[in-house]
Amino acid sequence: MNARRCELSVPGSNLKMIGKAAGLTVDEVLLDLEDSVAPEGRPDARRTIISAAREFDWSGKRLAWRINPVSSPYFYQDLIEVAEAAGDKLGAVIVPKVNRPEEVYTVAALLTAIETAKGFSQQIAIEAQIESAEGMLNVEKIAAVAPGRLEALIFGPGDYAASIGVPGLTIGGKVEGYLGHLWHYALSRIIVAARAHGLEVIDGPYGAFKDIVALEESALQAKLLGCDGKWAIHPSQIEPIQQIFSPAQAEVDRARRLVEAYAASLTQRQGAIRFEGEMIDAASVKMAERTLRRSGAV
Ligand code: COA
Ligand code: MG
Repeated sequence: MNARRCELSVPGSNLKMIGKAAGLTVDEVLLDLEDSVAPEGRPDARRTIISAAREFDWSGKRLAWRINPVSSPYFYQDLIEVAEAAGDKLGAVIVPKVNRPEEVYTVAALLTAIETAKGFSQQIAIEAQIESAEGMLNVEKIAAVAPGRLEALIFGPGDYAASIGVPGLTIGGKVEGYLGHLWHYALSRIIVAARAHGLEVIDGPYGAFKDIVALEESALQAKLLGCDGKWAIHPSQIEPIQQIFSPAQAEVDRARRLVEAYAASLTQRQGAIRFEGEMIDAASVKMAERTLRRSGAV
């Protein structure tokens, strides 16, 4: 599986930005039909996404599109029109405002039918956005519903703040006066549910795109809690995000040494050993293997 260190959101109605996105170095680009496109613009945006998916060169990145919520009247055309006409060029569909597992099941069932009817050789993955109180309440069931099809859960901080009643106006930003990490509980709960089912976890966007220092702080907190990547809404956010979610070379080298040292100790029937001034045991090996897997994906 390719990494998802950064997912760049691009309004599906904006051909100029889509063209620019195709030329950027980023793990995933998502062409949006939801909140960045006005409702009247959605039929045209579907056609723009189809032609951009077919005509631009997207090699080196995963191309995704975001449909409207399953509860909306736009959803079926967003999914069916785009998947039928360009599903062979699209690696993933992003489903926003997922409140219940049935919504992911519905999308998965339609995708299976479309892929079979069209004879696509690659499956289109699903990434589900958790961004409401109801979605958070059901996140464990959502994570379990479509094994092999659902690949990632994405936190949506703007809609979530509005849903649960956090004041503040910057998407994904801090709220003046709050002393902790505002998104700790939400991210951790999503991460636990996702990991229990082998899914990736992606932090949502940071709206104040001129403030790279605050973006980096937000991305680092998410990474340290266990996230695999973060959304970007502007090209200037991509490089800092991809950097933060890449394992450092020193960390990878040390992980490799740790695995080797532990393997050697096992032949001497030792479970816990000294390694570079620390105690390591089987748990340390799991931590190191995770770092090595991440570096392989990158
Ligand atoms: N994808 C691709 N290109 C983008 C981009 C994006 N998300 N955001 C900006 N750009 C391009 C601009 O077109 C411009 O290109 P140019 O230099 O070739 O003219 C360049 O990057 C610099 O953009 P800038 O002038 O700083 O910003 P802007 O005022 O054009 O756009 C936003 C600001 C916020 C409107 C824009 O970044 C945007 O629409 N972002 C995505 C919003 C979104 O997807 N929201 C839903 C998910 S939360
Ligand atoms: Mg949202």
